[in-house]
Amino acid sequence: MREDSVALRLRAAVHDDYPTLFKLDQACFAPGIAWSKTELEYFLKYPGNLSIVAENEAGRIVGFAIAGRQRRQGALLGRLITIDVDQALRRRGVGHRLLEEIEAQLRGIGATAVLLEVAVDNTAAQEFYVRHGFARTVRIPGYYLGRIDALAMEKHLG
Ligand SMILES: CC(C)(COP(=O)(O)OP(=O)(O)OC[C@H]1O[C@@H](n2cnc3c(N)ncnc32)[C@H](O)[C@@H]1OP(=O)(O)O)[C@@H](O)C(=O)NCCC(=O)NCCS
Repeated sequence: MREDSVALRLRAAVHDDYPTLFKLDQACFAPGIAWSKTELEYFLKYPGNLSIVAENEAGRIVGFAIAGRQRRQGALLGRLITIDVDQALRRRGVGHRLLEEIEAQLRGIGATAVLLEVAVDNTAAQEFYVRHGFARTVRIPGYYLGRIDALAMEKHLG
């Protein structure tokens, strides 16, 4: 374990967390890219989606992740919808723990791979995903706000 890693408790998100998760998402993304309350609630409540929050020792939420599922040619795949980590606690393993847990839960339901999209200018997230075994697949023109391209990334789950 890293020396500066944060002691975390991971658990499923509950309805009372939604305002905190909304605030965190607003802080993580630019206006227009961050979700509205309605969008965030939709992803959190969508049947079958996985939503995990990371709390520090004081019980404060310092990050969360949401994943959905889809089918491709009959295979069950996970789709990482987001991972958001409190800016003050980045590079201390919170994102790693959240991704590890999402991947474990996706494997548990039989998913063979996990997919995601990330903005071309979000190099920090791309580095994070590459470090965790994701490969870039295609570029999707105008995916965000009709003007920012996305990179699709994919990782096979062993
Ligand atoms: C991407 C994000 C989730 C990473 O969370 P994190 O808790 O900082 O990540 P970790 O500490 O677990 O990082 C693990 C490894 O990923 C890589 N990594 C993470 N952030 C990085 C950065 N800014 N630059 C380069 N590599 C990075 C490193 O290899 C890192 O290991 P190291 O710190 O020992 O070098 C976080 O930066 C974030 O919330 N960003 C804003 C929201 C966002 O863009 N989410 C992704 C949406 S697609």
